[in-house]
Parts: sequence; C-alpha cells; structure tokens
Amino acid sequence: MNIKIKFIIFNTALIVLITFGLGALFIVTVKGMLNKEMEKRGLDLGRALAEKSGFGFALRPESEILEAIQEIMQRDQILSARVSDARGKIIAHSDIREVGKMVPPQSASQLSYGKNKGSGSYIDVNLPIEGVEIRDDDFLIPDDPAGKKDQDETIVLGNAQVLMSLERVETFIRSLTATLAAIILGAALLVMAFVFHILKVFLSPLQALKKGVDMLGAGNLDHRVQISTKDEIADLARSFNQMAENLIHTTVSKGELQKSLDLLKRKEQDLRLFRGLIDRSNDGIFVVDPETSRMIDVNEKACANLGYTREELCRMKVTDISPNVSDELAWKAHAQEVKRKDYVVLEIIHKRKDGSTYPVEINVKFIRLEDKEFFLAVGRDLTDRRKMQAQVMQSEKMSAVGQLAAGVAHEINNPLGVIIGFAQGLVNRLKPGDSYEMPVKSIEREALRCKNLVQDLLTFSRTSVGDREPQDLTHILESAVTLVETRAKMGKVTIEKVLSKDIPKVLCNQNQIQQVIINLANNAFDAMPDGGKLKISAHLIEENPLSWVSLKITDSGAGISSEALPKIFEPFFTTKEVGKGTGLGLSLVYEIIKKHSGTVEVTSRPGETEFHIKLPARTGRELEEHVIQVRERRETSGWSPDRDLTKYGKGSLERKPEGHKGV
Ligand SMILES: Nc1ncnc2c1ncn2[C@@H]1O[C@H](COP(=O)(O)OP(=O)(O)OP(=O)(O)O)[C@@H](O)[C@H]1O
Ligand SMILES: [Mg+2]
Repeated sequence: MNIKIKFIIFNTALIVLITFGLGALFIVTVKGMLNKEMEKRGLDLGRALAEKSGFGFALRPESEILEAIQEIMQRDQILSARVSDARGKIIAHSDIREVGKMVPPQSASQLSYGKNKGSGSYIDVNLPIEGVEIRDDDFLIPDDPAGKKDQDETIVLGNAQVLMSLERVETFIRSLTATLAAIILGAALLVMAFVFHILKVFLSPLQALKKGVDMLGAGNLDHRVQISTKDEIADLARSFNQMAENLIHTTVSKGELQKSLDLLKRKEQDLRLFRGLIDRSNDGIFVVDPETSRMIDVNEKACANLGYTREELCRMKVTDISPNVSDELAWKAHAQEVKRKDYVVLEIIHKRKDGSTYPVEINVKFIRLEDKEFFLAVGRDLTDRRKMQAQVMQSEKMSAVGQLAAGVAHEINNPLGVIIGFAQGLVNRLKPGDSYEMPVKSIEREALRCKNLVQDLLTFSRTSVGDREPQDLTHILESAVTLVETRAKMGKVTIEKVLSKDIPKVLCNQNQIQQVIINLANNAFDAMPDGGKLKISAHLIEENPLSWVSLKITDSGAGISSEALPKIFEPFFTTKEVGKGTGLGLSLVYEIIKKHSGTVEVTSRPGETEFHIKLPARTGRELEEHVIQVRERRETSGWSPDRDLTKYGKGSLERKPEGHKGV
C-alpha cells in the first residue's frame, strides 16, 4: 500500500469518525431537547386534566371529566387520556372500552417512556388528582394559603394519565440523522477528493525524485528530475541533479571498471612473468641510482651470487659490494664515465656477504626513463670461466711441454744409453784404488739420474694412461707408504693412515697411482725438513649421481705461498735448489689423475697443506664389464689403452671440468 492510499484512508477515516461523533452528539442533544419539550407538554396536559377532574374534596362528574379528556384528545400527538379514581378504577377514558378497568393507583407524579408495537414510542404522564378532606361543618378551600392545612389533610382522589406519541419526534430525528449521514458522507467524499488532489500536488515531485533515484541506481547517470514548484522539494531536485552531474565525473560504469580490472590483471601477469624471467636470468641484474650508487632493485641471481637478500641489497650501495669503487669519489668517476660512454663493460671484483670475493664481468648501461636516470648493470660471475681458462692454459702448456719433453727425451735417450753403457763398462773394469774410480762412478750415477729424468719426461709426455685394472686402492696406498717409510723415519715424520673399509675397487694403473702418492709424500717430506706429520686418508664419497674415492694427503709443513700456489702444477715449476727438484712431480700427478678421469685440488696455509684427489668409483658390474671388454679386445684385434681411455676418461672429465684449486 503506497503512502498516498494510506494517507487518504487515514484522513477520510479520521474525518468520518469526527463528523459521525459530532453528528451523533448533535442528534442526541436535539432528541433530548425535543423530548423535554414533549415532557413539558405532557405534564401541562396531565396537570390540566387532573385539575379539571377534581374540585376540592371529590372527583367531578364523569361527563365533565370526559369533556376535559376530549378537549385534550384534540391536541396534537395525544394517544390517549384517562382518569381513574382512588381505587384505580378507570372512570373516564378516551377509548370507551377501557372504562371500568382497573389500573394501579399512584400517589405521586410519574413520567415514563414506553413503546407500543403499533403506535411507536410515547411519553406516559401520570399525575395524582389531589383534594382536601373536609371536616364537619368546615368549608374547604383547597388552595387557601392561609394555613388551613394544619386542620385539612390533602388526599389523592384519583389519577389523571396522558399518553403522548413521540412518533413525530422520532421521525424528525430519523430524517435529521439521514440528512446528517448524507452530509457526513458527502463531506468524506469531498475530503477524499481534496486529500487526493493535495497528495497529487505534493507527491508527484516526490515520485519524480524517486524515479530519478531509481534511474540513477540502474546506472542511468544522464537522467534529470524536472520540478516546476518553488519549494523545498524543488531544492531537493536541484541537489539531486547536481549530485547526478558530479557522479558522471567521479563514477565509471561497471563495464569500464571490469575492462580496467582485466587490463590491470593482464599487466600484473605480464609484470610477474617479466619479473620471473629476470629473476631466472643466469646473470645478476642490478638497477642502480647513478647519483647515490644505491641499488634500487636486483634479481634473484644477484642475491644468490652475493649471499644477500633482495631487501638487504636494496638498502645497500654498489660501493658496499664492489672494492673497485669502494668510495664515493671512485663511484662519481665511474658514473661519469658510464654516462659519457653510455655503455661500459668492465671486469671487477664483487664482495659476498661472507667477505669472500669473486670476479665479475659487468655490463653497465646508462638509461634515462621518465625523467629519471638509472644504471642497468648485468653482472656475470667469472669464477667458472676463469677456472676453465686456467685449465685450458694448463692443458695447452702441458701439451707443449709434453711434446718438447718427448722430443728431448727421445734425442737424449740414445746418447744417454751409450754413456751409461760405457760408464758401466768402465766401472766394471776399475781396479781397487783406481784414480778414475770417482769420476767414472760419478759419470755413471749422474747418467742414471738423467735416465730417471728422461723416464719422467717420457711418462709425462705420453698420453697413454697405461694398463688399467680394477685395483684395491688401500693396497696401493699401503705399498706406497712402505716405499716412503724409510725416508719418513730419517726425516722424523710420522705417517698416519685413515683408510675407510668400504672403499670399492678403482679402475687404475697401479704403478701410476703409486707414483702419485710417492710424489706427494716426497713433496711433503721436503716441506717438513725438521719433521712433522703426514696424514693419508681415503674414503668413499657420494656426489649424486657419482661416487668417488676420495684420497687426502695432508702434511704439517711450511705451506705453499699464495704466489707459488697457482703455478705448482706447471711443469718445471720448482722452488727447490737446482739439482734437488725438477718441478715435474706435481705436473705428473696432475696428468696421471686427469687421465684417470679424476680431479686434484690443493689447499694450503702455513702449517698445513692438503692435496685432495678424487677418483671415480666403479660399481662391481662396471668393473666386470670392463674386464670382459678388455679381454675380448685383446683376443680379437689387439688392445690400445688410448681407446680404453676414451670410454672412461673423457666423459667423466667433461662432467667434472674443474681441476685443482691451486691453478
Ligand atoms: N707439500 C708441499 N708443501 C710445500 N710446498 C710444496 C708441497 N708440494 C709441492 N710444493 C711446492 O711445489 C713445487 C712444485 O712441486 P713439484 O713436485 O712439481 O716439483 P719439485 O718437488 O720442486 O721437484 P720434483 O718433484 O720434480 O723433484 C715445489 O717446488 C714446492 O715449492
Ligand atoms: Mg716434487
């Protein structure tokens, strides 16, 4: 039910109620007044009948009373009139049939209302007819005020009754009620029409406003409310129109919003993808503020290389991680150069969080974007490249030296054979006390030394790894230790062996591995002229997917200087006196281990030098297969150790390219 109907019903009901109430009050008042009037008339008539019916001490004769009744009956609205005596017997009545009937005598005046079936409502006026009792010889004056009452007593002679019809009054009241009801109804209708009109006038602007709000809610921001009145509602409409106008500027439609959201999502996805790609780059990427050298952003690789989190790096400056530009002045010069050249490539050092450093090739690009200046630096960790370069250099050097050594050894070998032959022939012919004994023996000894040297050179230059068999490394170690034990004792060096029991067989050339251990042990003895400790340990290590036999030879000697460390594996590098060392020992070690598909690393500090050798551990099945293959080849086409090396050597070398830390 809308407000309009509610308002109309409420108002009409209120007005109808009020007018009905007032009308009822009016009718009741009018009816009361008319009844009073009728009562007065009835009483007057009753009194007149009573007076005419009595004359002092007795009732008048019936004829006189009848006359009086007839006179009353001629009056308007009189239904009946009667006079009864003191006993109640009707002595005169307007209806003759009633004469003689008995009615209850009344001593006091009575006025009552009654209702007849035929004649309707009436007023019953019943008055006593009073007289005076006359004593003997006394003359009764009924209304003498002189006080005869003291002697004369008033008596009721009978009753006079008049019935007056109220029909006319009721008819009047009925017509009055009908008129009033019609007036009220008409007034109610009028009020309804009036209220309807008023509401229409007042509510139509409100309805227009409501419609406007609905349209606005539905997204129609162009709808405006038109109100021609000049009141508060018109003000409201103006405010509403203004609000709609403002909304056009501040609101975007749902469709537009969705489009913007989709666009934002796509951009976010692109950004995430881009960020993911940048983070997965193999090079560290840095966005740097040229002014302050502060790192604005870095990728994950940069964090991984430097050991910092992104948050930490973004609080730091380039000067904190690069010793090359460790102060503001150096940075300013560097920044100026980059800006001038627009793009520079440098090889610098970066410092990790743990303090260690690593070489970096850094490509710095100067970028100006949206009025801001940036350096975009891409840093490539050169550690692996440097290692590879060193290895290649070492290999090239080795091969050059190898070729040279092979040539020299070949050329020297034959004359040396002749020298040794003749020297030994002369030694055999020496007589005791011969003055040539010393020089001839010296020639033989030195020639033999040369022969050993030539042998070393040949071993070094040969690419062959020799005959390889599955060997028990513990056994090789034990026999090598036996060979160096005498020297250890003489040099006051204690040898400690820590050999794990689970070491599998290793496919190797026993003599060569033994030579490796002897060379390393001899170097250790040389480094401990006043004695010390030599520790030899071996155990199995797993580096998925490969297993290695790890061999460590550690001494408590003076250590290797940082200048010498990168060169110790080079052929002919020695720090020993002429005649004491040739500088071939470690290069032989390196070559042999390399040809066994293994690696050798050295770490050294004063008081401790450790050579760590890793040889690939073969499973029992691999070794069996190898033995079968070798046997087959020998039986069919003859066996070449080089071909054998190809299978087991190269693959492993490629998997584990790094050589020794010392290089
Ligand atoms: N355990 C060690 N402690 C200290 N320095 C060492 C040790 N091992 C090797 N070196 C250094 O490395 C150099 C090279 O060693 P390498 O075995 O190649 O040659 P060498 O011992 O000098 O001569 P060669 O072994 O041919 O007789 C040595 O001269 C020495 O300075
Ligand atoms: Mg040596």
